[in-house]
Amino acid sequence: MRNKIVAGNWKMNKTMDEAVALTSEIVNMAKDEVSNDAKVILCPPALYLTTIQKYIADAPNFAVAAQNLSDKLSGAFTGEISAPMLQSIGVKYVLIGHSERRQYFNETNAMLAEKVNVALAHDIAPIFCCGESLEQRQNEDYIGFVKNQITESLFHLSAEQMRSVVIAYEPIWAIGTGLTASAEQAQEMHAALRAHLADKYGAEVAEQTSILYGGSVSAASAPELFASADIDGGLVGGASLKSREFTEIIKAR
Ligand code: 13P
Repeated sequence: MRNKIVAGNWKMNKTMDEAVALTSEIVNMAKDEVSNDAKVILCPPALYLTTIQKYIADAPNFAVAAQNLSDKLSGAFTGEISAPMLQSIGVKYVLIGHSERRQYFNETNAMLAEKVNVALAHDIAPIFCCGESLEQRQNEDYIGFVKNQITESLFHLSAEQMRSVVIAYEPIWAIGTGLTASAEQAQEMHAALRAHLADKYGAEVAEQTSILYGGSVSAASAPELFASADIDGGLVGGASLKSREFTEIIKAR
């Protein structure tokens, strides 16, 4: 059975005090709601990772993820954070290839393949983000576009490595816009991505890979999305900054 995952990507939001308060509220409200086949992953700014780890220590099935990592291991790369650094503080997940990183920091499929490699080499599971723009959805083979993101950044991995990867489908047109993909639109893509994984790695690996949906997930939209056959949870932005709403989303998975 696949893990159900609800991840909260805080992006560049919250001061330390606010981050601690948000975490405490979520843990208090949600910790008894998360069963053993499920996970809640908080993705705070890297500066707060060690602090947030302390606040989730007593919440089984809670984890933190970094929002990014360098494709380099060490050296003169001012401002960057490496996989060995994240490993040294016990971080087990990292977002890789978020559309904001691709758009504002020019991250390419090839660079993301390197990031996936360094993460896996340090026992950090990539949450690999993919998704098409509105223009691509309207004008192009949008499913082929997203499949190609996966091919170019993940398909050099062995089946064994692929078992550690979580995929997050986040259509860019649905991020921060209030425009959620309908459950049918999301399910169509998730099923196509799972079939793509099956073609490369076989049905067993495809069946056990968690594929999350992201893009304006809210307490209102989560139940229908998460009930879809190939949607294994969500990567939540704005709504993960509000403890009550995020808890409702956790309960919906
Ligand atoms: P929103 O939920 O704010 O649309 O953000 C989604 C996202 O980018 C999560 O990584």
